[in-house]
Amino acid sequence: MKPLSSKAFDAVTQLFESVSGIKLNQSKQALVTGRLQRLANEAGENDIEAYVDKLLRGGAPAQEMTRLIDRLTTNETYFFREPQHYNDLADRLADLPPGQEFKVWSAASSSGEEAYSAAMLMSDLLGPRGEAAPWQIIGTDLSTAMVDTARRGLYPMERARMVPPEYLKRFCLKGQGTQTGQVLMTRELRARVRFEAANLMQPMPEWLPKFDVIFLRNVLIYFDNPAKTEIVRRVLGQLKPDGVLYTGHAESLSNLGLPVRVLTTAVHGHA
Ligand SMILES: C[S@@+](CC[C@H](N)C(=O)[O-])C[C@H]1O[C@@H](n2cnc3c(N)ncnc32)[C@H](O)[C@@H]1O
Repeated sequence: MKPLSSKAFDAVTQLFESVSGIKLNQSKQALVTGRLQRLANEAGENDIEAYVDKLLRGGAPAQEMTRLIDRLTTNETYFFREPQHYNDLADRLADLPPGQEFKVWSAASSSGEEAYSAAMLMSDLLGPRGEAAPWQIIGTDLSTAMVDTARRGLYPMERARMVPPEYLKRFCLKGQGTQTGQVLMTRELRARVRFEAANLMQPMPEWLPKFDVIFLRNVLIYFDNPAKTEIVRRVLGQLKPDGVLYTGHAESLSNLGLPVRVLTTAVHGHA
């Protein structure tokens, strides 16, 4: 593979940062080159420099920018990742007064596994139609391709290895025929989870409600401190006064001057 010139690398990563807020440094050169080369080939352009040049001069169709953003984000996720948060959520649901509404937001939902995991718990503990207490779950992500995947709710079987066996039986359909080796979320579960595109670097959409629990996990690692602070402040604006914010266990909010207090590891409340 032809290496990408540092001029083109800088131009593409700056463009990506201006949209997503994420800085990709030189250590990501090989990764960026590989992903751009594939995009270029798909666009019928073998020369990666020519592809980048066209994109930067605005000579490419608008959807090519969306494709670039989709490809440069890192979307790794799986069901019931970092299970301590799901244990914490289960405790909160068990303590919920009957009839009290409960809302959850998966704020960088990627392909949707995080939101569906929470939905399984809520369906189990609050009732599939909110019989014990009404519940709502929303997943948002910058990548429109990921939002589409999340809405489809169809996953390779190995992503579901952490789903408790009882939940696998209740909420996951085993793929057959062309879907062998995959699991499909049941229609009922899919109907309960709303996925939309939203950029955490921009003001949040008007329709977004206030939440009891917000998952903001494994996304802050991609941002520098000023961007991280901006995002967390914005997300806290969507958290109810006694709500909780979950961050990834590798992500720290300390020393950023944020109005949060740590309740337990990677679980935060308003200060
Ligand atoms: C590694 S995934 C994390 C998925 C899930 N939260 C988890 O912990 O498994 C990070 C996600 O953050 C999304 N993301 C990156 N920048 C974003 C931004 N500015 N606004 C919204 N989502 C963003 C990416 O598209 C990607 O799907």
